[in-house]
Amino acid sequence: MAGRYKGDLAWSAVTPKSDYLNRRQLILSAGAAATVGVTGGPALASIATVPSRYSTDETPNTWDEITSYNNFYEFGTDKEDPKRNAGRLTIDPWAVQIDGLVERPGSYDFGDIVAGVQMEERIYRLRCVEAWSMVVPWVGFELKDLLDRVGVQPSARYVAFETLARPDEMPGLRYPVLDWPYREGLRLDEAMHPLTILATGIYGEALPNQNGAPLRLVVPWKYGFKSIKSIVRITLTADEPPASWNMAQPNEYGFYSNVNPEVDHPRWSQATERRIGGGLFAGRQPTLMFNGYADEVAGLYAGMDLAKFY
Ligand code: MTE
Repeated sequence: MAGRYKGDLAWSAVTPKSDYLNRRQLILSAGAAATVGVTGGPALASIATVPSRYSTDETPNTWDEITSYNNFYEFGTDKEDPKRNAGRLTIDPWAVQIDGLVERPGSYDFGDIVAGVQMEERIYRLRCVEAWSMVVPWVGFELKDLLDRVGVQPSARYVAFETLARPDEMPGLRYPVLDWPYREGLRLDEAMHPLTILATGIYGEALPNQNGAPLRLVVPWKYGFKSIKSIVRITLTADEPPASWNMAQPNEYGFYSNVNPEVDHPRWSQATERRIGGGLFAGRQPTLMFNGYADEVAGLYAGMDLAKFY
């Protein structure tokens, strides 16, 4: 298996050098030991970050809560399964195939993808369609940054993502719960939105495997299942790409999947949520439109009937 996902292109080939050096300088001037991307491997220890102006002011959940109550069906369908089973996942080497309607398609090594990138700590709410929520201090960078570097062709309108499917390391793949590999998609303007990030860490540490190491999407105004983990492929397309949950149960999971308290899931209300770690008597809290990010993203859906495009 080693070498199978080895990238064949380096950012130095696609990033103007002055740009690269500037970004690098920013990381260094952020003060911390700049370990990000220097060695190239996914095993980033402490990651140098700067705080983000996009963070919420809510108190994040604990490391334990964030890393032991997970959805990652490739490792099993119980919330404890990913932590129990994801340890065997090999994340080094890791490469992401970027193809479709891009100027510079190729297999990019993870180390090259993050080399010189400005990592931010972004505290975002994660709202699961199962009506629980968490607040997570992600470490990540804007997806737009990566897409700009590979060059999006003018005819591209959507971005498709794919998770690794490696049966010998992912016991959940034995079960046809979903049509593997796990797939998700965004409209191009959603993908280019500054709130949309690729995360590589939590609490300044590299992502644990159960949270989608080494690279996962985070789209804070959409239900958690949009935030696809352990990404190995990103494809720019002209047509709306297939998405795993939408394919499995189209009447329950739409392509857009925006957090919307006004549109019920067919089997339950989406009006309230239970904050993980809130304690037995904490009760439920109202779910906010677009998960509280309406000021930033409502404009993306102007004129769309959100009951139809759910
Ligand atoms: N990505 C993959 N590949 N497989 C999955 O099963 N589950 C999704 C999403 N990304 C999932 C996935 C769901 S339903 C949620 S709620 C979030 O990951 C959970 O992210 P977390 O475990 O980091 O909190």
